[in-house]
Amino acid sequence: MTEKREYKDDYPDKTLYLPGPTEVREDVIEAMCEPMFGHRMDRMTDLYTTIVEDTKEFLDTDNDVVVLSASGTEFWEATTLNLIDDRMLVPTSGSFSERQANVAERLGKDVDRIEYEWGKAVNPDDVRAALEESDEGYDAVGMVMNETSTGVRNPVEEIGDLLGDYPDTYFVVDAISCLGGDFIDIEGHNIDAIFTSTQKAFAMPPGLAVCAVSDAAYEREVEKESASWYGGFQRTLDYYDRKGQTHSTPAIPLMLAYRKQMKHMLEEGHEARDERHREMAEYTREWAREHFGLYPEEGYESQTVTCVENTRDIDVAETVKTVSEEYDMAFSSGYGDIGEESFRIGHMGEHTVESITELTDAIEDVADL
Ligand SMILES: Cc1ncc(COP(=O)(O)O)c(C=O)c1O
Repeated sequence: MTEKREYKDDYPDKTLYLPGPTEVREDVIEAMCEPMFGHRMDRMTDLYTTIVEDTKEFLDTDNDVVVLSASGTEFWEATTLNLIDDRMLVPTSGSFSERQANVAERLGKDVDRIEYEWGKAVNPDDVRAALEESDEGYDAVGMVMNETSTGVRNPVEEIGDLLGDYPDTYFVVDAISCLGGDFIDIEGHNIDAIFTSTQKAFAMPPGLAVCAVSDAAYEREVEKESASWYGGFQRTLDYYDRKGQTHSTPAIPLMLAYRKQMKHMLEEGHEARDERHREMAEYTREWAREHFGLYPEEGYESQTVTCVENTRDIDVAETVKTVSEEYDMAFSSGYGDIGEESFRIGHMGEHTVESITELTDAIEDVADL
């Protein structure tokens, strides 16, 4: 039984190097502190149309964009309900891809997995083989672009390209821990639905989920007998077309923060943002190679989360705790069963090589490297 623990007023601020939530700019936090307004006022249309259109511009896509008041998990459910009649193929190579498969199973879909050892990347040849071998085919391939539990960046582009040969198989991409920090050409790689959560590389507070939806995905949902209500593409996009608003009351303060941060992101531009993330990832990998090892298969390391292999057998839990207590910096131990075998550094959002170096210096001090 969980017992009540009093929330206090004096927690020390910690700099977040987690794989999300990550650091949020001060002016973005402040943007939330406005007197409330109604979600059917004109002002709401100004706000929602601004964040939707700015997001399209940032992602460099003509696909439609939905911003929902929910965490990213909502789009595992919604994409499954909107696009899958019966069968889905899900390559699994870590905790989040396994969860994506599990969500579809819980929704009653017939899921075939291609299973990989943790740390390995999905191989496009295996995806093609599974598509070729299947008699009935698949309504969609669902996959995680950036496996947050292992720090693997999967070759989504190649898989999207090969799916061009299977027009009845839609492509659903969970880009939750990388979109906004690892640029992807959405239309160029046949992606029908790609989604993220705001607390990751968008560097906003948690609570909103963003999905870019292709015309074909919208059409498929229209033809289906059942679909998600809350995350239905038709309901959300038609409402946007008619009124420029959301179908139900959104998290207005979070959308105010979104507007502010998306302006910063546009000012930087997706190319410069991608490059900054590349530099942070390269720095972190180099540091990891010097002192430890890298958990992901070589050549498939994430641009937003480095999963360091604990080759020196340091006490990961103790190091995380001491860095937090002595330096007020939060990073993550390994995920689940690999909790002590690895640890993870989130270099996403507004971080820079300089700020990441402050963390690696702290780890060096505490672990006596
Ligand atoms: C790859 C991936 N998918 C899904 C999720 C779930 O996202 P949310 O907590 O926003 O629902 C996460 C969260 O860390 C993730 O990293």
